[in-house]
Amino acid sequence: MINMKVINDIEKYKDILKKEIDNNNLVIFPTETVYGIGANALNVDAVNKIFEVKTRAKNNPLIVHLKSINEISKYATIENDIEQKLIDTFMPGPITIILKKKDCIPECVTAGLDTVGIRVPINEIANRFLSIVDVPIAAPSANISSRPSGTKVSDIRSEFDDKVNYIIDGGESKIGLESTVVKVINNVPTILRPGYITKEMIEKVVGSCNVSDHVLKEVDSSSIVESPGMLYRHYAPRTKCLLIYSKDIELLRNEIKKHLTNKTIILGSNNLKDIKCYKFINYGDDLETISHNLFSYLRLCDTYEADLIIIEGVDKVGLGLAIMNRLIRTSNFNYIEL
Ligand code: TXA
Ligand code: MG
Repeated sequence: MINMKVINDIEKYKDILKKEIDNNNLVIFPTETVYGIGANALNVDAVNKIFEVKTRAKNNPLIVHLKSINEISKYATIENDIEQKLIDTFMPGPITIILKKKDCIPECVTAGLDTVGIRVPINEIANRFLSIVDVPIAAPSANISSRPSGTKVSDIRSEFDDKVNYIIDGGESKIGLESTVVKVINNVPTILRPGYITKEMIEKVVGSCNVSDHVLKEVDSSSIVESPGMLYRHYAPRTKCLLIYSKDIELLRNEIKKHLTNKTIILGSNNLKDIKCYKFINYGDDLETISHNLFSYLRLCDTYEADLIIIEGVDKVGLGLAIMNRLIRTSNFNYIEL
């Protein structure tokens, strides 16, 4: 039984949506990156519901979504010119900037940290939703923890059906990967989670940009972690995955053939389409298409009775870094690079 109502016309439901958020309930809404599962960031009960419903670890902080960059100073302090420049250049858009939090943001949102992730989405429906409810919305990606993030209604609906009353349908998420998470550390922007806004784009604006070691490496829980989200198993289908990358297509094809079982799905570009296997799924032939399709196709892979998904890796530059950050975790670090 489907209980969750899908809203196609946000204007028609604006009073209901406002009431839902005022009653400390959750609403799923689209953004340009992925769908978010949101609640009033200023209410502890509402925020706790997010953690419960997602089965999310309490020490993994949430991002706060605002309707406009003019709202930022109500909830966070902009401490230097670099933060200001990042805001002016990339917001609204697919970026989250970690800023010093103000006292009005409850500790449960930030998992006790003195910083808060601020995001101003550019997606029109997200923006309209944030204006209608007129409170800051804490929202992680709309997926049960460890599962691939939700990028379309049909992928998410069954996961939250009896736990969330309304989902606003905005079609397929345009980008398909979550926002770039950036924190200015010792005056240098540092990417904690790569996304559509790349290292190269940030460098153009402020000269330099670091990428946290944790982006491509397994995180040891005893180390100091800037972005707690990197600690957890993530983005994973139920079927076992193996990620393989080589710049040399022949090397790549030969390596893949070594690992094939009778029930292997190959998820990759058209470079691999003629390799004989149980099922071939073309995830796209350019980085933007791959990013757009990735999470939904990982979920699709689970619908075939495969015992292995071999995923073709990409070069770790530009948007490729974000794709590989997700895929390395999808495959639980089961990764071969030749
Ligand atoms: O695109 C997105 O960012 C989506 C949409 C819904 O906006 N949201 C999203 O949220 O991906 P979530 O909760 O799945 O990922 C938030 C990431 C986590 O890795 C978390 O650890 C990190 O941001 N984060 C949040 N607040 C932080 C903080 N104060 N310091 C460091 N990392 C933080
Ligand atoms: Mg997430």
